[in-house]
Amino acid sequence: MVLSGIWRKNENSKEPLPENISVSHDKAVPPQAVQELCASVGWSRREPELIVRALQNSLAVVSIWVKGTDFKPDELIGFARATGDKVFNATVWDMVVRPDYQRAGIGRLVMCELLKELDEYQIPLVTLYADPGTDGFYKRFGFLADPSGVRGMFRERIDY
Ligand SMILES: CC(C)(COP(=O)(O)OP(=O)(O)OC[C@H]1O[C@@H](n2cnc3c(N)ncnc32)[C@H](O)[C@@H]1OP(=O)(O)O)[C@@H](O)C(=O)NCCC(=O)NCCS
Repeated sequence: MVLSGIWRKNENSKEPLPENISVSHDKAVPPQAVQELCASVGWSRREPELIVRALQNSLAVVSIWVKGTDFKPDELIGFARATGDKVFNATVWDMVVRPDYQRAGIGRLVMCELLKELDEYQIPLVTLYADPGTDGFYKRFGFLADPSGVRGMFRERIDY
């Protein structure tokens, strides 16, 4: 754990980031780093070429990095992206923090940075799909489950 204790980044905080942590809004995140981060929380591995295309086609991408050393490359510890039309809607996808860094404020940092970028477009509706046990996290950023009885519906194809 490189962060010293619990580091809390609040939306309106002027608190500086720890020196070894950096935030990027670049869509060109190495796909192997995304693949490996997702695997660290048990998600299935996606093809690197498809990850590259998905990131390029995303509206916003946020990645959080721990600075490496001469012997260790920079490490991706937090990530999320959003798709959208830049006018009416955006949807958050792939919100993930490396297990060793969870509950230390990295997820909050990712969400604040992503929502800040979406706010630049003044998009009125941001949606997401909360995995079981994560809705308490998203509620901290103003997300509501089933507002006015609206329910998410899914049509999945496994043959693509
Ligand atoms: C969910 C996840 C992104 C949260 O990231 P994190 O870095 O641990 O979150 P933070 O430390 O920034 O927590 C921010 C706040 O949310 C709370 N929180 C974090 N995870 C939570 C959870 N699962 N349920 C309820 N509250 C949660 C924290 O206590 C903190 O609250 P506070 O501001 O009142 O102190 C992370 O646990 C994760 O990657 N999980 C595995 C992948 C996953 O399920 N992603 C979501 C897919 S929909």
